[in-house]
Amino acid sequence: MKTRITELLGIRYPIVQGGMMWVGRAELASAVSNAGALGTITALTQPTPEALSIEIDRVRSMTNEPFAVNLTILPTIKPVPYQEYVRVIIESGVKIVETAGRNPEPYLPAFKAAGIKVIHKCTSVRHALKAEAIGCDAVSVDGFECAGHPGEDDVPNLILLPAAAAQLRIPMLASGGIADARGMVAALALGADGVNMGTRFMATREAPIHENVKRQLLEHDERNTALIFRTLKNTSRIFRNAVAEQVLELERREGTTFADLKPLVSGERGKRIYETGDTDDGTFPAGLAIGLIHDIPTCDELVSRMVAEARELIHRRLATMMDKASNETACVL
Ligand SMILES: Cc1cc2nc3c(=O)[nH]c(=O)nc-3n(C[C@H](O)[C@H](O)[C@H](O)COP(=O)(O)O)c2cc1C
Repeated sequence: MKTRITELLGIRYPIVQGGMMWVGRAELASAVSNAGALGTITALTQPTPEALSIEIDRVRSMTNEPFAVNLTILPTIKPVPYQEYVRVIIESGVKIVETAGRNPEPYLPAFKAAGIKVIHKCTSVRHALKAEAIGCDAVSVDGFECAGHPGEDDVPNLILLPAAAAQLRIPMLASGGIADARGMVAALALGADGVNMGTRFMATREAPIHENVKRQLLEHDERNTALIFRTLKNTSRIFRNAVAEQVLELERREGTTFADLKPLVSGERGKRIYETGDTDDGTFPAGLAIGLIHDIPTCDELVSRMVAEARELIHRRLATMMDKASNETACVL
């Protein structure tokens, strides 16, 4: 396949695995990249900048294909030495960075000077235009369906993507709610140059998380997510489990602050879920795409299937509809 995204990133298929805290490690990123898509490791999953440098080396030992590093600039419980992570990314010779969470402007001059392509992930047309204006090479537009932080505007991708495509000049990835070829073809039709997926890539053989978590994604459907932190204006879409229900209950109470929620939502508890498989031990992100996940393929099987089915959809289903329509019009005329 050839789109502005495959050209920009030097990948075979316009499919990107988005940054995922604790999940985006070398095993997953290299498998995605080896499948012809773009794998991403998540910088802050590594406890220190030095550990990130080692993880980047690990990806390189597992693939010769392009890969990215995600740098998420969100408010965190512990302060993060962002400049140090940026230094390691640059010194390691990484060529693609996905930024998210906040305006990446302070880090752009250094990334640009190093020839790094920056994809900024955002959740609104105005933020996408801002990313373009400050010099990002591409944007990843996350609709309301997405896992993690959908923003506060609640605009789903059927509207958000064409609205953004109408104004943007740089390439755009569609993100949120995509799990198969149907979503990919729809996203391309809506104006995207490629797709970004998180939840779908969690349920792959190479995702370095406990099998129970993957099974939970298979066993539940699109109704099983929860939007927490709405009261803090920092909304996050997570898997709806017992802890998510507790958080929602606390948020319904007048005067609840982050301090009240903190023990329930700590990153350490989320990390433990992926290690032990006890999915009620804390919270973890998941998007509406869980309704579309019915198996646990390898990344290669997933990517190949999406590309083959996209081809079928475009050349057979959609093309015949058009032919049929024009034939019927011809008969009427
Ligand atoms: C388990 C998980 C962890 C995530 N962690 C991050 C993160 O640390 N930084 C980030 O920018 N996005 C993160 N995301 C969001 C994804 O990169 C991506 O934007 C999102 O999953 C797209 O929506 P989808 O899940 O419907 O495909 C995470 C998503 C998941 C499922």
